[in-house]
Amino acid sequence: MKNIVITGGAGFIGSHVVRLFVNKYPEYHIINLDKLTYAGNLANLKDVENKPNYEFIRMDICDFENVYKLFQDKHIDGIIHLAAESHVDRSIKDPFTFAQTNVLGTLSLLQAAKLYWESLPKRYENKRFYHISTDEVYGALQITDPLGIESPFTTKASSEHHQAYGHEFFVETSKYNPHSPYSASKASSDHFVRAYHDTYGMPTIVTNCSNNYGPYQFPEKLIPLFINNIRHRKPLPVYGKGENVRDWLYVEDHARAIDVIFHHGHIADTYNIGGFNEWKNIDIIKVLIKTVDRLLGRPEGADLDLITYVTDRPGHDARYAIDSRKLQDELGWEPSLQFEEGIEKTVQWYLHNQEWMDYITSGEYERYYEDMYSKR
Ligand code: NAD
Ligand code: DAU
Repeated sequence: MKNIVITGGAGFIGSHVVRLFVNKYPEYHIINLDKLTYAGNLANLKDVENKPNYEFIRMDICDFENVYKLFQDKHIDGIIHLAAESHVDRSIKDPFTFAQTNVLGTLSLLQAAKLYWESLPKRYENKRFYHISTDEVYGALQITDPLGIESPFTTKASSEHHQAYGHEFFVETSKYNPHSPYSASKASSDHFVRAYHDTYGMPTIVTNCSNNYGPYQFPEKLIPLFINNIRHRKPLPVYGKGENVRDWLYVEDHARAIDVIFHHGHIADTYNIGGFNEWKNIDIIKVLIKTVDRLLGRPEGADLDLITYVTDRPGHDARYAIDSRKLQDELGWEPSLQFEEGIEKTVQWYLHNQEWMDYITSGEYERYYEDMYSKR
């Protein structure tokens, strides 16, 4: 039995990682450690909450005393660390919370793991501290014009095309150059993780992933927010000219990459994870409008007039693009879904799970923990 802590398991990506590990590894004891901030929603995990190898513990990663006690009491062998404040717009308004959770919270986990693992006879043997980070730590790339393929529905073709035209990508050795308080806090946490390897010999791994999309994403982020607004015919606030570029990866592909890297990644290494799937915001927004309209039986393009250009995000990064060939070459991972398929699945999921969306937008989900867990 391996005891694995997954932090932030009640959030968007974390819930997919918890689901994958609980179902795929019945021999592991999976502990979902989550504070349940506004972004944590246990309803994301209803299908696994009664599995014998799953346990939820409500805890703040910054609470060092209790985190350390948990490592000792539960004999933790590995940690997959996703808990974070994750929304750039919130970080612009409230940077302190981001420094607290993302930097000091990560440090608290590192120190707890260090003290516990160093107390064992075999110390760090077969232990793993896996830190989930973001491509935003590398800063922004230039938008090369033309981008290559107008609607790059195909991952491989897009990759080769970009390489052939010499377009720039983030690679594992790219310089850190964060611009938002969010990315600055993630960059800082990455440095702490690497410092714990270099100073104490902790077996760490860091991965930096591009934008995820898919089910259970909190509707403050572009894709779920816009799907919900189109459904309700509410304005779609496009920042600036809508020309910023993001590289989109289906969330289950990210979870699969985390599984492969947790088990087979090289200690002290870094892997970039991305979809080779770049889109200008405005183009993706048009695809969302087209898809929602079609699935709801509305005339094609009926909702294009919802597009509303608003003041740009301060320090808005122009373009992110990940080169994930190291992960593909060394560990054999590649995205499984074409974007066309992923976006269709995603829109369908949100339209079929309106209850989940209403639950969140009404704030009711915040009572789920009290109802479900306080009675136990
Ligand atoms: P999310 O905001 O959906 O979920 C974050 C989770 O962390 C929530 O369940 C929340 O309750 C929990 N949490 C927050 N503060 C906590 C604390 N102090 N103690 C314990 N739990 C706490 O985030 P997400 O989009 O799923 O991102 C997960 C991780 O992946 C983050 O580290 C993020 O930086 C990284 N990441 C996200 C993306 C993306 O596109 N969403 C891409 C690359 C990397
Ligand atoms: O690249 C990985 C990052 O992707 C993660 O580290 C972050 O946690 C995650 O939130 C995401 O960051 P972004 O800022 O790229 O995602 P967001 O969904 O907030 O915005 C995507 C793009 O859409 C971005 O260029 C800003 C724009 N946008 C966003 C919102 C919410 C709009 O134009 N209007 C909006 O209302």
